[in-house]
Formats: sequence, structure tokens, C-alpha cells
Amino acid sequence: MSISVTVTQEPAATIAADAVVVGYFQDAPLEGAAAELNKATGGALAQLIESEDITGKHGALTTILAPAGTSATTVVVVGLGPEDEFDCGAALRAAATAAKALASKPRARVAFYLGDGWSNDLMEAAICGATIGCEGQDLYRADKDLHPFGEVLWSGADPATVVTAATVAEGVSLARRLVNEPASVIYPESFAAQAVEASGACGLEIEVWDKAKLEAEKCGALLAVSRGSVREPRLVIVRHQGGPDGEAPLALVGKGVTFDSGGLSLKPSDGMKTMKCDMAGAATVLGAMCVIAKLNLPVNVIGLMGLTENMVNGASFKLGDVLTARNGKTIEVLNTDAEGRLVLADTLDVAVGLGAAQIIDLATLTGACVVALGTDVAGLMTNDQTWCHEVEAASQVCGERAWQLPMFKEFNSQIKSKVADIKNVGEGRWGGAITAAKFLAEFVGDTPWTHIDIAGPAFLDSPKPWIDAGGSGAFVRTLVEVARRWQDGTTRIPTR
Ligand code: BES
Ligand code: MN
Ligand code: ZN
Repeated sequence: MSISVTVTQEPAATIAADAVVVGYFQDAPLEGAAAELNKATGGALAQLIESEDITGKHGALTTILAPAGTSATTVVVVGLGPEDEFDCGAALRAAATAAKALASKPRARVAFYLGDGWSNDLMEAAICGATIGCEGQDLYRADKDLHPFGEVLWSGADPATVVTAATVAEGVSLARRLVNEPASVIYPESFAAQAVEASGACGLEIEVWDKAKLEAEKCGALLAVSRGSVREPRLVIVRHQGGPDGEAPLALVGKGVTFDSGGLSLKPSDGMKTMKCDMAGAATVLGAMCVIAKLNLPVNVIGLMGLTENMVNGASFKLGDVLTARNGKTIEVLNTDAEGRLVLADTLDVAVGLGAAQIIDLATLTGACVVALGTDVAGLMTNDQTWCHEVEAASQVCGERAWQLPMFKEFNSQIKSKVADIKNVGEGRWGGAITAAKFLAEFVGDTPWTHIDIAGPAFLDSPKPWIDAGGSGAFVRTLVEVARRWQDGTTRIPTR
């Protein structure tokens, strides 16, 4: 969905809107729009600060209904937190918190007066947050919790930033919606159809590999996972050719398990409840690729999505099976629930085969990563420290939390198999996020590669003040940022 966002020059006190949102830093003087509104209302805001009803604590909301002296029905003061801690993440979450609260009922026009003199980056994050806050997981509820605004007005932003922000927000929304759709709606074939539609709308080239093509390409690992399902697998490749012809592309690779039952290593019911989210990596890649294409970033990027269900039937792949992956390595299957790494094995190999200069993969890969880092932090694992630093720096700038886990060679022995080249699980469950990454490393060769395990942040079990539960769209913005940094020339990739 896209919400109309436009710039306004109208003062906060006189704008005709259903709601006006102003920002206030903790322990700071009233500035900008907040100061204007204070004056127009005869000192109402100063009084509320005095009484500590307005604190400026990050994300704290104070709603003033029908304030005399203004044209708005509702004024919301949102706390921006301490000024010296303010960054893009804080800007996004503050705007999203205000938007989410206001979206509890339909509103035609909401005007945001957040930063005066904020950088374009902060503005973009905030504008993006306003969309994220008011879109939720209630796709199939007649009585919605959240009501996206008819129209959003933004003060103090330049028009180009508004357009960019709306584009980024659309990519995040796409990823969230695909994750929130149930597995009966989003399965490999229908995901691919959505990718075709989205690609058409944003000017990406697209290629879809069906089962016959995957067989011809010897994608034995991906195909094995798909065997237990009545839904055929797909591999989707999208291309954005924004850089010089012949320059090796950045590759973004996503795990797209549209439902993970665990296969014969069946998950317990509780563990399966949210496994429609297991295609979040692929959704993140598609969302980011759409943004990269729409912004027409001057870099070559390919997005690859390995799509399958992990189900159970008489044809299911079994424990003890030995698979031959596309790169020729043999894999002993000792747990069919460690399917994501099998899907990625072949998808990563396709990326390498397409001449990727550098690879990032995203996957809801392991529960172990959530144990290690919690639900809000993604795990980073790499075979190339410089490349990992780039990805980490991009995530930090975006306010998306990621933390690197080690890839010490001591872990290598854990994926050795007695009957095949490697096995698809480690020894026991300790360090499971790392042994999974060690497995993936077998399929990228020497290509600089960073793996982002998003099992924690991709899907929220419960809502937060700034975002509804369900798909979060986490790391769409980081991927876009990585591609943008290329534009800056900081990481222009060498032609190989
Ligand atoms: N999709 C799951 C990982 C997951 C867990 C994602 C929780 C999101 C939330 C993955 O396919 C899986 O089942 N991993 C196993 C690996 C194990 C069998 C080695 C796990 O984490 O238990
Ligand atoms: Mn699994
Ligand atoms: Zn999975």
C-alpha cells in the first residue's frame, strides 16, 4: 500500500488537519513547531512540561484534544529522547509510535512537525516510520486495529526526501505484507507471481526458475526440501542494472521457506505457529530490490530468492538422505528442520555463478541465533571482515540492530559427516547459529559474503509501541543503505 505524503509549509498552529504531531527532546527548551504551538495555545505545552505530562522521554506521547488556538482536532507531542542519543532509529521509532497511536481510528489528514533542520537521513527515517507505525498484521480483520492515514503532510522536509522516504517505506511495507500473508496465500508459485508484479511496477528484470529448470540446474538441496510439499519450488532472480555494464553485481540472497513445518523432523505445534514467517529473508530481498530499482541507484544488484515449503508427505526427504547440491558437494541430512541452509546452499551457488562481487544473505535461519542475541538483534557472520564491517555500518546508520558472531575455524569440524562431504546440523545444539553459517560458507567459495540471521527481528510475536506484531520488514533499509554506499563510492566494488 502506498500512503500519499506531501510537504507542507503551513504553520503547525493553523494547519487544518485531523492531527498534528510535534516532537520534543528530553530536557530541552521548546523549539520550532512545539514552541509555535505553545505560543498559539497560550502556553499549554510549557504547562504540561512543568507538570511532567510532557517529558520528552523517547516515544512518550501526550495527546491534547481540540487545543484552543489551533486548527487541529488533536495535537500529539512525541518524546524524541535525549538529543545526543538521537539517530535514524530513534527518529523512525518516534514517528512510528505517534503514527501507530493515531492510527487507532481512521484519520484523513495527519501533519507531522518533527525536525526543524534535521538532516535528510533523519527526515527520511521519520517519514518512513510514519508509514510503518500505521500498517499492521490485521490483513484479514474486518474490524481493523490500525487505519493508515488518508493523507500525510510533512513539514520541514524537502520534496525529494519525501519521495525517497515514501519509496523506502513501500519496500518495507511490501516485505511486511508478504510475511504477514498466510502460507495458504504465499507459497513459492504465488510469491514468484508477486515478485513478477512488483518487478513490473519498479522496473526490475525478473527470471523465475520452475521445478524443471531447478532440476536441469541440479539444485539438489533446494529440490530435496521441496519434495514433501504439493507446492512446487521456485527460484526467483531479479536484476537492477544501475551501474556500468559488466561491473560485477552485489548479490542479495533470501531464504524463502513459505512454510516450515520442520518436515519429518516435525516441529511441535507451538514452534510451527509463526512459520509462515520463514520466507522473511526472501521478502526482505524483494522489498529492498524494489527500492533500489525505484531509486535507480547507480549500482548493479541482483536479488535471489530460494522458494519452497518444508512439508511432510510420502515423498519427503528423509534423515540419512545424502543430497548433491548444485556446487557438487554432498550433504548428509540429519535433521529435515535444518532446511534453510539447504535452500540457501543452492541459491548462494547461483549467486556465485552469476559472478557476484559480494554477497549478503538474509534468513530466518536458526532459533539458536534468537537464544544468543534476543528477538531484536540479527546475527552477522562472514568470511570477509571488511565486507561484514560495511554491512554492519549500514545497519547501524539505519538503526537496525545487528551483532557479529565468530566464525572460528574450530567450528568447522562440527559439520563434517562420516558419509558425505558435510552434514546439515552441528554436533549438539550449542553454537547453532554459527554451525549453520559454517554450512553456508561451503557454498560461497571465496566471494566476500555476509550472512544475516534475522530469525529474531523478522517477526514480532507481540506488538511494540511503534510497530504492530507480525512481519517487521527489518533489514530492508539496511540493504538499501548498503547499495547506496556504493553510490557514494565508499565501497565501489572492483570488477572481477
Ligand atoms: N526456520 C527455522 C528457524 C527459526 C526459528 C526461525 C524461530 C524463526 C524463529 C529453521 O528452519 C529451523 O528450524 N532451524 C532449526 C535448526 C536445527 C534443527 C539445527 C532450529 O533453529 O531449531
Ligand atoms: Mn526449519
Ligand atoms: Zn526454516
